[in-house]
Amino acid sequence: DLNIKVNEKNHLDIGGADAVDIAEEFGTPTYVIDENRIRDNYNRFYSAFSKYYPDFKVFYACKANTNLAVMKILESEGCCIDAVSPGEVYTAKKLGFDGQRILFTGNNITNEELKFVHEEGAVLNIDSVSALNRLAKIIDPEGVKISFRVNPMVGAGHHDHCITGGVMSKFGIMDSEASEVYQQAKDLGFNPVGMHSHIGSGILDPEPFKLAIESTMDIAGKVHQDVGIDFEFVDFGGGVGIPYTPEEKIVDLDKFAEVNIGLFKEKLEEFDMGSPTMYLEPGRFLVGDASVLLVTVNSVKQSYRKFIGVDAGFHTLLRPAMYDSYHHIVDASKMDAPNTQEVDIAGNVCESGDLFARDRPMPDVEEGDVLGIMNAGAYGFTMSSNYNSRPLASEILVTDGKCQIVRERQSFEDLYAQQIIPDHLK
Ligand code: LLP
Repeated sequence: DLNIKVNEKNHLDIGGADAVDIAEEFGTPTYVIDENRIRDNYNRFYSAFSKYYPDFKVFYACKANTNLAVMKILESEGCCIDAVSPGEVYTAKKLGFDGQRILFTGNNITNEELKFVHEEGAVLNIDSVSALNRLAKIIDPEGVKISFRVNPMVGAGHHDHCITGGVMSKFGIMDSEASEVYQQAKDLGFNPVGMHSHIGSGILDPEPFKLAIESTMDIAGKVHQDVGIDFEFVDFGGGVGIPYTPEEKIVDLDKFAEVNIGLFKEKLEEFDMGSPTMYLEPGRFLVGDASVLLVTVNSVKQSYRKFIGVDAGFHTLLRPAMYDSYHHIVDASKMDAPNTQEVDIAGNVCESGDLFARDRPMPDVEEGDVLGIMNAGAYGFTMSSNYNSRPLASEILVTDGKCQIVRERQSFEDLYAQQIIPDHLK
């Protein structure tokens, strides 16, 4: 179920453009983004849920990919934004999302940041009583719409680092204190109209989502009854996974939506909650399979193992090193060649952990070949760094086969542009 296309030259096709031509024209490493795939992902996601519950909104978790073109594409589809930092709020505002289309879910946020986000007009999704009380002191709370992130005591994710519910999680207010906290917010003058939960990321199993919907709705129902809150929205976060390996299956969105909205509606009825808007916050699902990271093989080395060395590393794509994540890798130069060997695909960072793959079946890869590291659209560029003084990669947008550069590759000058040498060291 991977989104891999091949053209008549047996090269990797990305949105109608030839990956080998792109590598030649723009250089590597480069992230190549397929515009139509993002539009298609958004529309499949939106229509699956709105079919069963028309009062439904998608808040794109832009931490997955904050490329301006990517955010603009989603803006033009009518999508809203889930922002986690003042920088993301600022970016979204610049791109034309108005405040009401931005939900800010911060964690351990300073007073200055809370104030900034409020002044930008974004809706604040509060993560702690501490933030609630601080916010009440720095703005006039009267009538200000807010929501709370609750811990639904359900967590799931592709890696421990990506589980965000349950007793070990730093996120949200406790389920047992929810009524008290909403009451406190009301007493301070706020207008608490929303509830939010997010259980984790990279989840292909539908079961935890069902549990999370039930548990979040039980908390919301109790708050509705205890405190008299009429919820305008309930937000169940993101987390819907995508296949990274050829064996993994894409989530059956229609069934997923039918089941989860069924549960949601049952709970609305049980607690007599009317019909609040349902929000979801997909990140990975919208952009993950829309980008390929193109790299070039520069060395083939037979040591105790066979290493295929490429011109990118974990400073370019961190997921394999950080989470041991699988990213499918193809030889974009010869897509028809059969696998003949198992190799390690290694990056150019001076660390042993800088590997994109271990024991990976590959064809007879040669120096100069262009490799495509698939599914690099989510948490790819956004987690990249300048480690080893490597300039950040460029990004190319493909629209109906036409390529445009949407982020210049960094220069060496950019590496130290913000640094200042003190006079006595000059
Ligand atoms: N909403 C909230 C509050 C979140 O914290 C996240 C992701 C999302 C939505 C979107 O989750 P998604 O639909 O993309 O799974 N760097 C990791 C993923 C970290 C996710 C953090 N929060 C990775 O590369 O897998």
